[in-house]
Amino acid sequence: MNRQLIVAGNWKMNKNLIEAFSLASEILAKAKKMSDKVQIVLAPPAPYLHTINSMSKDIAHVNIAAQNCHFETSGAYTGEISAEMLHSMNITYVILGHSERRKYFQEDHKILAKKVSAAIKAGVKIIFCCGEPLEIREANTQESFVLQQLEESLFHLTEAEMKQVVVAYEPIWAIGTGKTASPSQAQDMHQFIRKQIATKYTTELADACSILYGGSCKPSNAAELFAQKDVDGGLVGGASLKSEDFLQIIQKRAKQA
Ligand code: 13P
Repeated sequence: MNRQLIVAGNWKMNKNLIEAFSLASEILAKAKKMSDKVQIVLAPPAPYLHTINSMSKDIAHVNIAAQNCHFETSGAYTGEISAEMLHSMNITYVILGHSERRKYFQEDHKILAKKVSAAIKAGVKIIFCCGEPLEIREANTQESFVLQQLEESLFHLTEAEMKQVVVAYEPIWAIGTGKTASPSQAQDMHQFIRKQIATKYTTELADACSILYGGSCKPSNAAELFAQKDVDGGLVGGASLKSEDFLQIIQKRAKQA
């Protein structure tokens, strides 16, 4: 398999300054000694990005992600951060399309399409989240729901641009609930997403695109999720806030590399 294996930790709005730096230090100290088969991504809150990026710069298999960016390059947008700013800080990724941004900050397909374009234009790679709420899963219409998210906010990218994208499938009903998608539910959706990328672009691009699973991913279920052939890694929320748990998840991914 020529795909990059990735375990990413989305810290969301957690940790004060001291806690954030000690969590990053603990993870980085161990990451340094780990094999580079797995790319580790840390997505701390924005105020800590620059320092944590500097702390990690000597470890090639660790990259830093922002949790959001604005679609404009600069201007009178109080409180916002542009993709250009992230690029100027050498931040590798930005997470876009997260269900929490969609729900609490009214980020719709159109806004997300603009953010996706802005990030690519600025030279920041994207971790693009998609995933369905419970009622859609219960109605068994999750595939068309996710396809619409991809079509409306991501598939306007050119083939070259799409190479800068990692997709994360995060079923909303599994986020922070302790309920995980079963390995076969994850595999089915990942395979579906890869097929859609192949249809829209090429099989080569689809085969090279890393697709991560997110939603109550933890040390106890990571191995069976990662054993699925289209699950290339994880986007981890709660379990990324404890260094031992996050490191164990990375080790599970490395074992199956
Ligand atoms: P949990 O791992 O806490 O369910 O969160 C997943 C997530 O939203 C990662 O972006």
